[in-house]
Amino acid sequence: MNDPIPFFWDGAYHIFFQHNPNGAFWGAMHWGHALSRDLVRWQPQPLALTPQPGGVDQDGCFTGCVVERDGRFYLFYTGIPQLEPLTQAQCLAVSDDLISWTKDAANPLIKRPAAKIGACFRDPHVWREGQRWRMIVGSEQPDDRGGAALLFASDDMRTWRYEDVLCLGDAAQTGFEFECPDFFALGDRWALLTSRGRPAVEGTHWQVGRYDGRRFTPEQIGRVDGGACYAAKTLLDAAGRRILFGWIQERRPVEEQRAAGWSGALSLPRVLTLLPDRSLGIAPAPELAALRGPRWSYAGVTLGGADGETLLLLDGVAGDALELLIRFRPGGAMQYGALVRCSADGSVRTEVVYDRRTQRLGNAALTLAADEPLTLRIYLDRSIVEAFANDRACLTLRSYPPDDGCVHVGVFARDGEVTVESIEVWQLRPPDA
Ligand code: FRU
Repeated sequence: MNDPIPFFWDGAYHIFFQHNPNGAFWGAMHWGHALSRDLVRWQPQPLALTPQPGGVDQDGCFTGCVVERDGRFYLFYTGIPQLEPLTQAQCLAVSDDLISWTKDAANPLIKRPAAKIGACFRDPHVWREGQRWRMIVGSEQPDDRGGAALLFASDDMRTWRYEDVLCLGDAAQTGFEFECPDFFALGDRWALLTSRGRPAVEGTHWQVGRYDGRRFTPEQIGRVDGGACYAAKTLLDAAGRRILFGWIQERRPVEEQRAAGWSGALSLPRVLTLLPDRSLGIAPAPELAALRGPRWSYAGVTLGGADGETLLLLDGVAGDALELLIRFRPGGAMQYGALVRCSADGSVRTEVVYDRRTQRLGNAALTLAADEPLTLRIYLDRSIVEAFANDRACLTLRSYPPDDGCVHVGVFARDGEVTVESIEVWQLRPPDA
């Protein structure tokens, strides 16, 4: 899988996603579908969209969104008539049950980008606004200046007119293009999520700001995740929770992905909130506690005190499916954090590290107040590590250790002292156990 497209309806969480049924590599983009009622157990559903030979989407059904109107479901996606050179057009499919989809005979509904914009023109996101419908399509400004979200409007969901640029991005902050845009009200502000895949600013970015019905003016900006999580989008559930899902990317060679028979995974559900300073809060959904099995807890310990590293591997606990909850008291260490998938001597390891100098967790900014403790909540599921810090920063890592002995976990400090106040570890059980 790559990009998830989350949608909530009638007590069920739906994840549509970019999918290639031909193998564990990118190509022939279909829409896959999975469903959950508890955010923990997911059931595979039939393919939702298949490229149609000779059709406007013959070379792929790219990312988009699903919305509901009067009990019917409207799926907007980017049809790819031609991959090389890339041609993109916005299309519609309709369903009464979210399972079987009929493509609109008038596809594509929006053929080509408005004048004066760059090549990227994909991943429509649609929302209701009063009596009419709005759409943004992810695009870019010329000369690699940055992303652009193009705003369209419609009364009937089939005829769309171009209105304006909702928002322009700065390449240095949010990358060259706006892929997979998502746009929603959050508290007393609006949030725009966009993704960009070239190095340097790779990832999904959030911007929080004001929306006046035509323009979005960002006030704050940051990264949804400081690591291997991309193309993240959200749904709104019945409890009013804005829940984000991302595509957890591989960090191993393509040949190994093909050999493994799978590539890419869905992130854990992450609940977004607007914090008092109008930045983005992000925390794992509480439903995940249903996965907890046996628990271990450890007394506090002080690590370090000198130059170099102090490492403590935990006694009695080992595994590759664990939840860790670790509280660090503010201390002098320059770097500290947790280790998972460690060899018995600690030489092979995956580090979730907070860097006090750069104030970062991976590539995600995390500024701690002088007396603020660091709370790390880490979910380890074999090669996938999803770490949450103080309910406002996320870091996804991939771990491919060389052998099955790499199942130890621990804490560490470098260049200074830090006190670990408490450590709790749960073994995670498969959801159906
Ligand atoms: C993001 C993306 C989207 C596109 C899709 C194709 O990962 O490049 O922009 O619609 O993947 O699979």
